[in-house]
Amino acid sequence: MEIVKAGPQHVQGIIDVCAAGYWATYSETHSKEYIERVIDEFYNRERVLSEVTDTNRNWGGYFVALDGGEVVGAGGGGMNGEGSGEVFVLYLKPDRRNEGIGTRLLDAITKQQKEEFGAHEQWVSVGKGNQKGIPFYEAKGFAFQQEQQGYGNSKGENYISLRYYRNLAGNKKEEVAR
Ligand SMILES: CC(C)(COP(=O)(O)OP(=O)(O)OC[C@H]1O[C@@H](n2cnc3c(N)ncnc32)[C@H](O)[C@@H]1OP(=O)(O)O)[C@@H](O)C(=O)NCCC(=O)NCCS
Repeated sequence: MEIVKAGPQHVQGIIDVCAAGYWATYSETHSKEYIERVIDEFYNRERVLSEVTDTNRNWGGYFVALDGGEVVGAGGGGMNGEGSGEVFVLYLKPDRRNEGIGTRLLDAITKQQKEEFGAHEQWVSVGKGNQKGIPFYEAKGFAFQQEQQGYGNSKGENYISLRYYRNLAGNKKEEVAR
């Protein structure tokens, strides 16, 4: 298993993992229409190709977990303000959870944000009721801060996101080099 910065050769793998991960995560709490809309918007070829090539402080690009060359996990983030990082996306192939792959991807994103972008804190939004994601972030030292409107609600939808925060300064877990 290796964690690498993604390139154009990983685009299809990222799409497959994120779409499968999104379905597995949100099919109990969100409608089919909502899930299809989000997947179409974020995990299409054109968008993901641009997101592995055009990177900057605000979007540091995708990291992928490769097992024998196959993408089994994908994640990325960027800065949302001075000194403040954000995890924008983190998904695994649904049958590859609880092996420590999410930890390694989060560590890679965090290392980039601390070392390249000067982050000393980090944020993530998680869908309310996401019992696959929330315990993971809590295990990583994130604490709930507030609720906000979920992303891209259409008429009649009222999905809620939870904002989680952790301080990176002196976060021992992240200082262990892998
Ligand atoms: C969230 C996710 C990326 C975590 O990756 P993972 O590889 O399964 O997690 P790890 O094996 O690295 O687990 C790390 C820690 O979190 C804990 N943890 C992870 N998921 C948990 C769960 N559902 N319940 C309780 N604890 C959990 C582990 O026990 C472990 O704790 P430890 O460090 O004290 O041993 C992965 O489960 C996933 O893809 N979930 C669905 C998608 C999702 O919710 N993404 C986040 C949306 S923003």
